[in-house]
Amino acid sequence: MSNSSTAPAALKRLYSVAAVRDAARRILPRPVFDFADGGAEDERTLHRNEAAFNDVALLPRPLNGAATRDLSLDLFGARLSMPLGIAPTGLAGLFWPDGERAAARAAAAAGTFYCASHGSVCTLEDIAQTGAGPRWMQVFVYTDRGFTRDMVERARAAGYGALVLTIDNQLLGNRERDISNGFSIPPRFGVAGTLAAATKAAWLLRMRTRLPKLTFGNYLRPGETATVGALAGRMAGLLDPGLSWADVDWLRTVWSGPLLLKGILHPGEAAEAVARGIDGVIVSNHGGRQLDGAAASLDALPAVAASVAGRIPVLVDGGIRRGSDVVKALALGASCCLIGRPQLWGLAVAGEDGVRHVLDLYRKEIDRVMGLMGARSLGELGPDCLSSVQAKRLPHD
Ligand SMILES: Cc1cc2nc3c(=O)[nH]c(=O)nc-3n(C[C@H](O)[C@H](O)[C@H](O)COP(=O)(O)O)c2cc1C
Repeated sequence: MSNSSTAPAALKRLYSVAAVRDAARRILPRPVFDFADGGAEDERTLHRNEAAFNDVALLPRPLNGAATRDLSLDLFGARLSMPLGIAPTGLAGLFWPDGERAAARAAAAAGTFYCASHGSVCTLEDIAQTGAGPRWMQVFVYTDRGFTRDMVERARAAGYGALVLTIDNQLLGNRERDISNGFSIPPRFGVAGTLAAATKAAWLLRMRTRLPKLTFGNYLRPGETATVGALAGRMAGLLDPGLSWADVDWLRTVWSGPLLLKGILHPGEAAEAVARGIDGVIVSNHGGRQLDGAAASLDALPAVAASVAGRIPVLVDGGIRRGSDVVKALALGASCCLIGRPQLWGLAVAGEDGVRHVLDLYRKEIDRVMGLMGARSLGELGPDCLSSVQAKRLPHD
């Protein structure tokens, strides 16, 4: 276990994911909290992601007799203890020292997968050294195919079990909270920001030796000591605005293991992915951080699931904040869900313990909701678990 700033007893008082978010907000300097919390432009898609769950109502069958519930499933050759894993999030090491390693260990302890981000602070090899698994690696196809191939080779050598190609980051999203906060890597707070950051003593103390060295570990060439600014520039310069199916086909030829596409919203693209030998799709809009105005993940899910028709697993992320959200997503055709921000909030409050706590909250909620629904196993979650009468849209805070 990691050394925690929030003691286990205090963690217990963080009784929901929303409470963990509130605690993270109190701990983190505003630009850092907003970096994770925010979305692109007017944050319409960000809000839509969460609001979409309000419009789906569950229809329980309590007399089914679900005294015990089995939350486990097989996914890409691994047995998972529950239908929820950790989505790739760049710069997790900004929230807790070695944040990626802490989160990977927490996922393994919970019996689920950790997907490392291309933009992790620790290198993918450092994360692998924890021995935590199942581990997936998220990549882009860059303008520099040699660099892409190297990243894939490194993932293979380090024992990653699946490769996730993110397709919705071909251009950088326009995150206006970051612009207005002057967010930069490494963080430079300015006078007002420094005063504000000074009130976040625990985070500053914990991160003080790390902040000057904060980097995108996977982009450093061996022996190189490039500044993080230079690395961020290199990364952005490698993105390919012309990304296309030809790039997907090429990646398929250099990685024979499970290959997933992340950022699918259109049923036509999902069908094409199946036709091209992709092993799984993640219905996602990048947590509303890229194309503002894009459909909520949950709204896009049913059509994607219908077009895939069970041939490959359909995963989904975006706005999943409750166990009931996971149950709704599975009822609408998902095999498994991922969380991005909630994991970062967990890291901010207590490192590995915080992420364990977050995963535990989801597990207990999924189990309780399945019990109340009368569902004994994930296989029993389908469209007939949902009311055809859509619940009234609740206002978002
Ligand atoms: C701070 C942050 C960094 C992210 N970095 C990446 C990334 O490097 N690669 C990627 O594919 N998605 C990235 N995402 C998107 C997540 O993988 C995921 O799609 C999204 O967070 C899910 O929505 P949620 O945060 O509402 O759970 C990032 C999200 C956040 C919040």
